[in-house]
Amino acid sequence: MSQKEYIEKNKDRFLTELIDWLKIPSISADSKFAGDVKLAAEYVKNRLSEAGCDKVEICPTAGHPIVYGEKLIDPSLPTVLVYGHYDVQPPDPLNLWNSPPFEPVIKDGKIYARGASDDKGQVYMHVKALETMVNTNTLSCNIKFMIEGEEEVGSDNLGIFVNANKEKLKADIILISDTSIINNETPSITAGLRGLTYMEVEVTGPNRDLHSGVYGGAVDNPVNALCEMVAKLKDENGKITIPGFYDGVLEYSDADRKKMAERPFDKKEYMADLGVDALKGEAGYTPIEHTGIRPTLDVNGIWGGYTGEGAKTVLPSKAYAKISMRLVPGQHTDKIATLFSDHFKSLAPKSVKVKVTKHHGGMPVVTNLDSQAIRAAGKAFEEAWGKKPIPTMEGGSIPIVALFKDELGLDSVLMGFGLDSDALHSPNEHYGLFNFYKGIETISLFYKHYKGN
Ligand code: BES
Ligand code: ZN
Repeated sequence: MSQKEYIEKNKDRFLTELIDWLKIPSISADSKFAGDVKLAAEYVKNRLSEAGCDKVEICPTAGHPIVYGEKLIDPSLPTVLVYGHYDVQPPDPLNLWNSPPFEPVIKDGKIYARGASDDKGQVYMHVKALETMVNTNTLSCNIKFMIEGEEEVGSDNLGIFVNANKEKLKADIILISDTSIINNETPSITAGLRGLTYMEVEVTGPNRDLHSGVYGGAVDNPVNALCEMVAKLKDENGKITIPGFYDGVLEYSDADRKKMAERPFDKKEYMADLGVDALKGEAGYTPIEHTGIRPTLDVNGIWGGYTGEGAKTVLPSKAYAKISMRLVPGQHTDKIATLFSDHFKSLAPKSVKVKVTKHHGGMPVVTNLDSQAIRAAGKAFEEAWGKKPIPTMEGGSIPIVALFKDELGLDSVLMGFGLDSDALHSPNEHYGLFNFYKGIETISLFYKHYKGN
Protein backbone atom coordinates (compact mmCIF):
# COMPACT_ATOMS: atom_id res chain seq x y z
CA MET A 1 0.00 0.00 0.00
CA SER A 2 1.30 3.51 -0.74
CA GLN A 3 1.63 6.12 1.99
CA LYS A 4 -1.25 8.05 0.49
CA GLU A 5 -3.50 4.99 0.47
CA TYR A 6 -2.58 4.19 4.07
CA ILE A 7 -3.47 7.73 5.18
CA GLU A 8 -6.76 7.62 3.25
CA LYS A 9 -7.69 4.25 4.75
CA ASN A 10 -6.99 5.33 8.33
CA LYS A 11 -8.00 8.97 8.21
CA ASP A 12 -11.06 8.70 10.44
CA ARG A 13 -9.14 6.96 13.20
CA PHE A 14 -6.31 9.53 12.93
CA LEU A 15 -8.86 12.26 13.52
CA THR A 16 -10.61 10.49 16.40
CA GLU A 17 -7.27 10.08 18.14
CA LEU A 18 -6.46 13.76 17.71
CA ILE A 19 -9.89 14.70 19.06
CA ASP A 20 -9.25 12.66 22.21
CA TRP A 21 -5.96 14.46 22.74
CA LEU A 22 -7.56 17.88 22.19
CA LYS A 23 -10.10 17.08 24.91
CA ILE A 24 -7.34 17.25 27.53
CA PRO A 25 -6.92 20.88 28.74
CA SER A 26 -3.11 20.99 28.82
CA ILE A 27 -2.85 24.68 29.75
CA SER A 28 0.75 25.16 30.81
CA ALA A 29 0.36 28.68 32.20
CA ASP A 30 -2.25 27.73 34.81
CA SER A 31 -1.08 25.48 37.66
CA LYS A 32 -4.66 24.27 38.23
CA PHE A 33 -4.25 22.26 35.04
CA ALA A 34 -0.94 20.59 35.90
CA GLY A 35 -2.69 17.20 36.19
CA ASP A 36 -4.20 17.58 32.72
CA VAL A 37 -0.85 18.65 31.28
CA LYS A 38 0.53 15.36 32.61
CA LEU A 39 -2.38 13.41 31.12
CA ALA A 40 -1.73 15.02 27.72
CA ALA A 41 1.92 13.96 27.99
CA GLU A 42 0.92 10.39 28.77
CA TYR A 43 -1.56 10.40 25.90
CA VAL A 44 1.04 11.28 23.29
CA LYS A 45 3.58 8.92 24.87
CA ASN A 46 1.14 6.03 24.38
CA ARG A 47 0.28 7.05 20.82
CA LEU A 48 3.99 7.30 19.93
CA SER A 49 4.54 3.83 21.22
CA GLU A 50 1.58 2.47 19.19
CA ALA A 51 2.80 4.32 16.10
CA GLY A 52 6.07 2.41 16.20
CA CYS A 53 8.53 4.02 18.61
CA ASP A 54 10.66 1.37 20.29
CA LYS A 55 11.42 3.51 23.28
CA VAL A 56 9.18 6.17 24.80
CA GLU A 57 9.51 7.93 28.10
CA ILE A 58 8.17 10.80 30.09
CA CYS A 59 11.03 12.95 31.29
CA PRO A 60 10.14 14.97 34.37
CA THR A 61 11.38 18.56 34.64
CA ALA A 62 11.03 21.24 37.31
CA GLY A 63 7.88 22.17 35.40
CA HIS A 64 5.82 20.14 32.94
CA PRO A 65 7.26 16.90 31.55
CA ILE A 66 8.92 16.33 28.19
CA VAL A 67 7.87 13.31 26.13
CA TYR A 68 10.76 11.57 24.42
CA GLY A 69 10.40 8.78 21.87
CA GLU A 70 12.64 7.10 19.34
CA LYS A 71 12.69 4.59 16.55
CA LEU A 72 16.26 3.88 15.55
CA ILE A 73 16.42 1.55 12.57
CA ASP A 74 19.98 1.80 11.29
CA PRO A 75 22.93 3.84 12.62
CA SER A 76 24.13 4.48 9.07
CA LEU A 77 20.91 6.35 8.18
CA PRO A 78 20.32 10.01 9.08
CA THR A 79 18.43 10.86 12.27
CA VAL A 80 15.57 13.33 12.36
CA LEU A 81 14.63 14.91 15.69
CA VAL A 82 10.98 16.00 15.69
CA TYR A 83 10.17 18.84 18.09
CA GLY A 84 6.72 20.10 19.03
CA HIS A 85 4.61 21.07 22.03
CA TYR A 86 1.55 19.54 23.61
CA ASP A 87 0.77 22.48 25.91
CA VAL A 88 -1.76 25.11 24.90
CA GLN A 89 -2.55 28.73 25.68
CA PRO A 90 -5.36 29.53 28.15
CA PRO A 91 -8.68 29.56 26.27
CA ASP A 92 -9.97 32.85 27.75
CA PRO A 93 -12.21 34.69 27.04
CA LEU A 94 -14.47 31.63 27.17
CA ASN A 95 -17.66 33.49 26.28
CA LEU A 96 -16.31 34.23 22.80
CA TRP A 97 -16.03 30.55 21.85
CA ASN A 98 -18.86 29.14 19.71
CA SER A 99 -18.26 25.72 21.25
CA PRO A 100 -16.29 24.84 24.41
CA PRO A 101 -12.50 24.91 23.77
CA PHE A 102 -11.92 21.39 25.06
CA GLU A 103 -14.92 19.77 23.39
CA PRO A 104 -13.65 19.57 19.80
CA VAL A 105 -16.20 19.91 17.01
CA ILE A 106 -15.81 19.50 13.25
CA LYS A 107 -17.43 22.26 11.24
CA ASP A 108 -16.90 23.27 7.60
CA GLY A 109 -13.94 20.94 7.22
CA LYS A 110 -12.14 22.31 10.28
CA ILE A 111 -11.61 21.03 13.77
CA TYR A 112 -12.36 23.62 16.45
CA ALA A 113 -10.54 23.34 19.78
CA ARG A 114 -7.77 25.02 21.75
CA GLY A 115 -4.51 23.52 20.47
CA ALA A 116 -6.06 22.26 17.21
CA SER A 117 -3.45 24.13 15.16
CA ASP A 118 -0.98 25.28 17.85
CA ASP A 119 0.36 22.72 18.28
CA LYS A 120 -1.34 19.39 19.06
CA GLY A 121 -2.88 19.05 15.58
CA GLN A 122 0.48 19.74 13.99
CA VAL A 123 2.41 17.43 16.34
CA TYR A 124 -0.07 14.67 15.71
CA MET A 125 0.69 14.76 11.97
CA HIS A 126 4.22 13.62 12.88
CA VAL A 127 2.95 10.78 15.04
CA LYS A 128 0.73 9.60 12.20
CA ALA A 129 3.50 10.08 9.62
CA LEU A 130 5.61 7.69 11.68
CA GLU A 131 2.76 5.18 11.78
CA THR A 132 2.27 5.58 8.03
CA MET A 133 5.95 5.02 7.24
CA VAL A 134 6.24 2.03 9.58
CA ASN A 135 3.15 0.35 8.13
CA THR A 136 4.10 0.97 4.51
CA ASN A 137 7.73 -0.05 5.06
CA THR A 138 8.93 3.34 3.89
CA LEU A 139 10.76 4.61 6.96
CA SER A 140 14.20 5.59 5.71
CA CYS A 141 15.61 7.59 8.65
CA ASN A 142 15.96 7.16 12.38
CA ILE A 143 13.43 9.26 14.25
CA LYS A 144 13.52 10.89 17.66
CA PHE A 145 10.63 12.82 19.17
CA MET A 146 10.88 15.54 21.79
CA ILE A 147 7.45 16.93 22.63
CA GLU A 148 7.45 19.51 25.40
CA GLY A 149 4.78 20.94 27.69
CA GLU A 150 6.08 24.47 28.24
CA GLU A 151 6.46 26.10 24.82
CA GLU A 152 3.68 28.56 25.51
CA VAL A 153 5.37 29.69 28.72
CA GLY A 154 8.91 30.13 27.43
CA SER A 155 10.46 26.61 27.33
CA ASP A 156 12.75 27.30 30.31
CA ASN A 157 12.98 23.67 31.39
CA LEU A 158 13.46 22.40 27.86
CA GLY A 159 16.65 24.45 27.67
CA ILE A 160 17.95 22.64 30.76
CA PHE A 161 16.85 19.26 29.36
CA VAL A 162 18.58 19.87 26.02
CA ASN A 163 21.78 20.92 27.72
CA ALA A 164 21.79 17.80 29.91
CA ASN A 165 20.88 15.31 27.14
CA LYS A 166 23.07 16.20 24.19
CA GLU A 167 23.99 12.57 23.48
CA LYS A 168 20.40 11.34 23.62
CA LEU A 169 19.30 14.12 21.26
CA LYS A 170 22.05 13.56 18.71
CA ALA A 171 20.54 13.98 15.25
CA ASP A 172 21.21 15.41 11.82
CA ILE A 173 18.31 17.80 11.62
CA ILE A 174 15.35 19.06 13.66
CA LEU A 175 11.92 18.98 12.08
CA ILE A 176 9.18 21.23 13.44
CA SER A 177 5.56 21.87 12.48
CA ASP A 178 4.48 24.86 14.55
CA THR A 179 4.22 27.54 11.86
CA SER A 180 1.96 28.48 8.94
CA ILE A 181 1.70 28.23 5.18
CA ILE A 182 0.52 31.18 3.07
CA ASN A 183 -2.78 29.54 2.15
CA ASN A 184 -4.03 26.14 1.04
CA GLU A 185 -3.19 26.87 -2.60
CA THR A 186 0.23 28.34 -1.80
CA PRO A 187 2.49 26.18 0.34
CA SER A 188 5.45 27.86 1.99
CA ILE A 189 8.41 27.02 4.13
CA THR A 190 9.47 29.18 7.04
CA ALA A 191 12.67 31.06 6.30
CA GLY A 192 12.76 32.94 9.58
CA LEU A 193 10.97 33.62 12.84
CA ARG A 194 10.97 36.70 15.01
CA GLY A 195 12.48 36.79 18.47
CA LEU A 196 10.80 38.15 21.55
CA THR A 197 11.37 40.31 24.60
CA TYR A 198 8.45 40.37 27.02
CA MET A 199 8.38 42.94 29.83
CA GLU A 200 6.04 43.91 32.63
CA VAL A 201 5.86 47.39 34.12
CA GLU A 202 4.39 48.59 37.39
CA VAL A 203 3.71 52.27 37.92
CA THR A 204 3.00 53.46 41.47
CA GLY A 205 1.50 56.80 42.36
CA PRO A 206 0.15 57.56 45.85
CA ASN A 207 0.69 54.98 48.60
CA ARG A 208 -3.01 54.01 48.58
CA ASP A 209 -6.12 54.30 46.41
CA LEU A 210 -7.66 57.73 46.77
CA HIS A 211 -11.08 59.34 46.31
CA SER A 212 -10.84 60.79 42.80
CA GLY A 213 -12.85 63.83 43.80
CA VAL A 214 -11.04 64.63 47.01
CA TYR A 215 -7.50 64.21 45.59
CA GLY A 216 -8.05 64.17 41.80
CA GLY A 217 -6.30 67.03 40.02
CA ALA A 218 -3.51 67.43 42.56
CA VAL A 219 -2.08 63.94 42.66
CA ASP A 220 -0.79 62.10 39.60
CA ASN A 221 -2.86 59.12 38.50
CA PRO A 222 -0.56 56.17 37.68
CA VAL A 223 -2.97 54.85 35.04
CA ASN A 224 -2.86 58.21 33.25
CA ALA A 225 0.92 58.35 33.67
CA LEU A 226 1.32 54.82 32.31
CA CYS A 227 -0.77 55.67 29.24
CA GLU A 228 1.34 58.76 28.58
CA MET A 229 4.54 56.75 28.91
CA VAL A 230 3.25 53.98 26.61
CA ALA A 231 2.19 56.59 24.04
CA LYS A 232 5.77 57.89 23.92
CA LEU A 233 7.18 54.48 22.95
CA LYS A 234 6.32 55.04 19.27
CA ASP A 235 6.41 58.15 17.12
CA GLU A 236 3.89 59.30 14.51
CA ASN A 237 5.58 57.11 11.86
CA GLY A 238 5.18 53.99 13.93
CA LYS A 239 8.90 53.91 14.75
CA ILE A 240 9.83 52.65 18.18
CA THR A 241 11.51 55.48 20.09
CA ILE A 242 13.71 53.45 22.45
CA PRO A 243 17.27 54.69 21.79
CA GLY A 244 19.37 51.95 20.15
CA PHE A 245 16.32 49.75 19.45
CA TYR A 246 17.04 49.51 15.71
CA ASP A 247 20.83 49.17 16.06
CA GLY A 248 22.00 46.21 14.01
CA VAL A 249 18.56 45.47 12.52
CA LEU A 250 19.03 43.67 9.24
CA GLU A 251 17.88 45.81 6.31
CA TYR A 252 16.85 43.89 3.21
CA SER A 253 17.95 44.79 -0.30
CA ASP A 254 15.44 46.11 -2.82
CA ALA A 255 15.73 42.81 -4.68
CA ASP A 256 14.88 40.83 -1.54
CA ARG A 257 11.95 43.12 -0.77
CA LYS A 258 10.67 42.75 -4.31
CA LYS A 259 10.84 39.00 -3.98
CA MET A 260 8.98 39.17 -0.66
CA ALA A 261 6.25 41.26 -2.24
CA GLU A 262 5.57 38.53 -4.79
CA ARG A 263 3.85 36.31 -2.26
CA PRO A 264 0.08 36.48 -2.55
CA PHE A 265 -1.46 39.00 -0.18
CA ASP A 266 -4.85 40.64 -0.51
CA LYS A 267 -4.99 43.68 1.76
CA LYS A 268 -8.76 44.08 1.42
CA GLU A 269 -9.38 40.46 2.32
CA TYR A 270 -6.94 40.72 5.22
CA MET A 271 -8.75 43.76 6.62
CA ALA A 272 -12.19 42.24 6.07
CA ASP A 273 -11.17 39.06 7.88
CA LEU A 274 -10.10 41.14 10.88
CA GLY A 275 -13.01 43.57 10.72
CA VAL A 276 -10.79 46.67 10.51
CA ASP A 277 -11.13 49.63 8.15
CA ALA A 278 -7.44 50.41 7.97
CA LEU A 279 -4.08 48.91 8.88
CA LYS A 280 -1.42 50.68 10.89
CA GLY A 281 2.28 49.95 10.74
CA GLU A 282 5.74 51.43 10.51
CA ALA A 283 5.90 53.95 7.66
CA GLY A 284 7.77 52.80 4.56
CA TYR A 285 7.04 49.10 4.91
CA THR A 286 4.28 46.77 3.71
CA PRO A 287 2.07 44.57 5.91
CA ILE A 288 4.06 41.48 4.88
CA GLU A 289 7.20 43.30 6.00
CA HIS A 290 5.55 44.61 9.19
CA THR A 291 4.84 41.04 10.30
CA GLY A 292 7.93 39.39 8.86
CA ILE A 293 11.09 41.49 8.86
CA ARG A 294 10.37 44.47 11.11
CA PRO A 295 10.47 44.59 14.90
CA THR A 296 7.38 45.60 16.89
CA LEU A 297 6.26 46.83 20.29
CA ASP A 298 2.82 45.94 21.61
CA VAL A 299 0.89 46.27 24.84
CA ASN A 300 -0.58 42.83 25.52
CA GLY A 301 -2.53 43.90 28.58
CA ILE A 302 -2.92 47.03 30.66
CA TRP A 303 -4.75 47.41 33.93
CA GLY A 304 -5.17 49.31 37.16
CA GLY A 305 -7.88 50.92 39.25
CA TYR A 306 -11.47 49.79 39.06
CA THR A 307 -12.43 47.47 36.19
CA GLY A 308 -15.49 45.78 37.71
CA GLU A 309 -19.15 46.36 36.96
CA GLY A 310 -20.56 49.86 37.19
CA ALA A 311 -18.54 52.91 38.19
CA LYS A 312 -16.31 53.50 41.17
CA THR A 313 -14.67 56.88 41.59
CA VAL A 314 -11.10 56.13 42.48
CA LEU A 315 -7.63 57.45 41.83
CA PRO A 316 -5.67 54.22 41.89
CA SER A 317 -2.35 53.69 43.58
CA LYS A 318 -0.96 51.38 40.90
CA ALA A 319 -1.08 50.65 37.17
CA TYR A 320 0.42 47.81 35.17
CA ALA A 321 1.13 46.77 31.60
CA LYS A 322 2.58 43.76 29.83
CA ILE A 323 4.60 44.90 26.85
CA SER A 324 6.20 42.66 24.25
CA MET A 325 8.63 43.37 21.47
CA ARG A 326 9.09 41.08 18.47
CA LEU A 327 12.67 41.07 17.32
CA VAL A 328 14.35 40.53 13.97
CA PRO A 329 17.84 39.38 12.98
CA GLY A 330 20.44 41.72 14.43
CA GLN A 331 18.61 42.29 17.71
CA HIS A 332 19.40 40.53 20.98
CA THR A 333 16.62 39.73 23.42
CA ASP A 334 18.63 40.63 26.56
CA LYS A 335 20.00 43.85 25.11
CA ILE A 336 16.52 44.96 24.06
CA ALA A 337 15.25 44.23 27.58
CA THR A 338 17.89 46.54 29.06
CA LEU A 339 17.25 49.27 26.48
CA PHE A 340 13.51 49.09 27.14
CA SER A 341 13.93 49.15 30.89
CA ASP A 342 16.28 52.16 30.88
CA HIS A 343 14.14 54.09 28.44
CA PHE A 344 10.84 53.34 30.14
CA LYS A 345 12.19 54.49 33.51
CA SER A 346 13.49 57.67 31.91
CA LEU A 347 9.97 58.47 30.68
CA ALA A 348 8.50 58.48 34.19
CA PRO A 349 7.48 61.81 35.67
CA LYS A 350 8.69 62.53 39.22
CA SER A 351 5.16 61.97 40.51
CA VAL A 352 5.31 58.16 40.02
CA LYS A 353 7.70 55.29 40.67
CA VAL A 354 8.34 52.63 38.04
CA LYS A 355 9.35 48.99 38.33
CA VAL A 356 10.25 47.02 35.19
CA THR A 357 10.67 43.23 35.07
CA LYS A 358 11.47 40.84 32.26
CA HIS A 359 9.40 37.80 31.40
CA HIS A 360 10.57 35.26 28.85
CA GLY A 361 12.27 36.03 25.61
CA GLY A 362 13.96 34.41 22.67
CA MET A 363 16.26 35.07 19.77
CA PRO A 364 15.12 35.50 16.16
CA VAL A 365 15.76 32.67 13.70
CA VAL A 366 17.03 32.70 10.13
CA THR A 367 16.87 29.43 8.22
CA ASN A 368 19.75 28.43 5.98
CA LEU A 369 17.74 27.77 2.83
CA ASP A 370 20.70 26.26 1.03
CA SER A 371 20.71 22.87 2.76
CA GLN A 372 19.91 19.26 1.92
CA ALA A 373 17.14 19.25 4.50
CA ILE A 374 15.40 22.29 3.03
CA ARG A 375 15.72 20.79 -0.44
CA ALA A 376 14.14 17.57 0.87
CA ALA A 377 11.28 19.61 2.37
CA GLY A 378 10.89 21.42 -0.95
CA LYS A 379 10.65 18.13 -2.84
CA ALA A 380 8.14 16.77 -0.34
CA PHE A 381 5.92 19.83 -0.87
CA GLU A 382 6.27 19.60 -4.60
CA GLU A 383 5.26 15.97 -4.59
CA ALA A 384 2.30 16.39 -2.24
CA TRP A 385 1.02 19.80 -3.36
CA GLY A 386 2.20 19.95 -6.96
CA LYS A 387 3.88 23.27 -6.14
CA LYS A 388 7.23 24.48 -4.87
CA PRO A 389 6.96 26.09 -1.40
CA ILE A 390 7.70 29.80 -1.15
CA PRO A 391 10.11 30.87 1.62
CA THR A 392 8.40 33.22 4.11
CA MET A 393 9.52 35.23 7.10
CA GLU A 394 7.02 34.59 9.87
CA GLY A 395 6.10 36.88 12.69
CA GLY A 396 5.65 34.40 15.55
CA SER A 397 8.42 33.08 17.76
CA ILE A 398 9.72 29.67 18.74
CA PRO A 399 12.52 30.67 21.11
CA ILE A 400 13.89 27.16 21.47
CA VAL A 401 14.96 26.99 17.79
CA ALA A 402 17.91 29.33 18.37
CA LEU A 403 18.86 27.30 21.41
CA PHE A 404 18.85 24.05 19.39
CA LYS A 405 21.45 25.61 17.14
CA ASP A 406 23.57 26.88 20.04
CA GLU A 407 23.36 23.79 22.26
CA LEU A 408 23.06 20.94 19.77
CA GLY A 409 24.58 22.58 16.70
CA LEU A 410 21.47 21.58 14.76
CA ASP A 411 19.49 23.46 12.12
CA SER A 412 15.70 23.25 12.11
CA VAL A 413 13.38 22.72 9.19
CA LEU A 414 10.24 24.71 9.97
CA MET A 415 7.62 22.88 8.01
CA GLY A 416 4.29 24.01 9.43
CA PHE A 417 0.86 23.53 7.88
CA GLY A 418 -1.32 25.97 9.83
CA LEU A 419 -2.86 29.17 8.53
CA ASP A 420 -2.45 32.60 10.11
CA SER A 421 -6.25 32.69 10.24
CA ASP A 422 -6.42 29.56 12.45
CA ALA A 423 -7.13 31.83 15.45
CA LEU A 424 -4.02 30.81 17.39
CA HIS A 425 -4.12 31.97 21.02
CA SER A 426 -7.59 33.30 20.39
CA PRO A 427 -11.20 32.05 20.73
CA ASN A 428 -12.38 29.47 18.17
CA GLU A 429 -8.92 28.19 17.30
CA HIS A 430 -9.21 25.66 14.48
CA TYR A 431 -7.21 23.53 12.09
CA GLY A 432 -8.24 22.47 8.61
CA LEU A 433 -8.69 18.75 8.03
CA PHE A 434 -7.13 19.32 4.62
CA ASN A 435 -4.04 20.72 6.37
CA PHE A 436 -3.96 17.85 8.84
CA TYR A 437 -4.03 15.12 6.20
CA LYS A 438 -1.87 16.97 3.68
CA GLY A 439 0.63 17.57 6.46
CA ILE A 440 0.87 13.86 7.25
CA GLU A 441 1.44 13.17 3.57
CA THR A 442 4.09 15.88 3.15
CA ILE A 443 5.95 14.93 6.33
CA SER A 444 6.09 11.27 5.27
CA LEU A 445 7.57 12.37 1.95
CA PHE A 446 10.20 14.50 3.68
CA TYR A 447 11.81 11.34 5.04
CA LYS A 448 11.88 9.80 1.59
CA HIS A 449 13.88 12.74 0.24
CA TYR A 450 16.09 13.45 3.23
CA LYS A 451 19.42 11.67 2.86
CA GLY A 452 21.43 13.57 5.46
CA ASN A 453 23.29 16.89 5.36
N1 BES B 1 3.31 28.27 17.05
C1 BES B 1 3.61 29.48 17.69
C2 BES B 1 4.59 30.36 16.95
C3 BES B 1 4.22 30.70 15.53
C4 BES B 1 2.91 30.90 15.13
C5 BES B 1 5.20 30.84 14.59
C6 BES B 1 2.60 31.18 13.81
C7 BES B 1 4.92 31.18 13.29
C8 BES B 1 3.60 31.34 12.90
C9 BES B 1 4.15 29.23 19.09
O1 BES B 1 3.46 28.22 19.75
C10 BES B 1 3.96 30.48 19.90
O2 BES B 1 2.88 30.95 20.02
N2 BES B 1 5.04 31.04 20.44
C11 BES B 1 4.98 32.18 21.29
C12 BES B 1 6.28 32.41 21.98
C13 BES B 1 6.35 32.01 23.41
C14 BES B 1 7.62 32.47 24.08
C15 BES B 1 5.15 32.27 24.23
C16 BES B 1 4.68 33.44 20.51
O3 BES B 1 5.10 33.58 19.35
O4 BES B 1 4.02 34.30 21.07
ZN1 ZN C 1 1.45 29.28 20.46
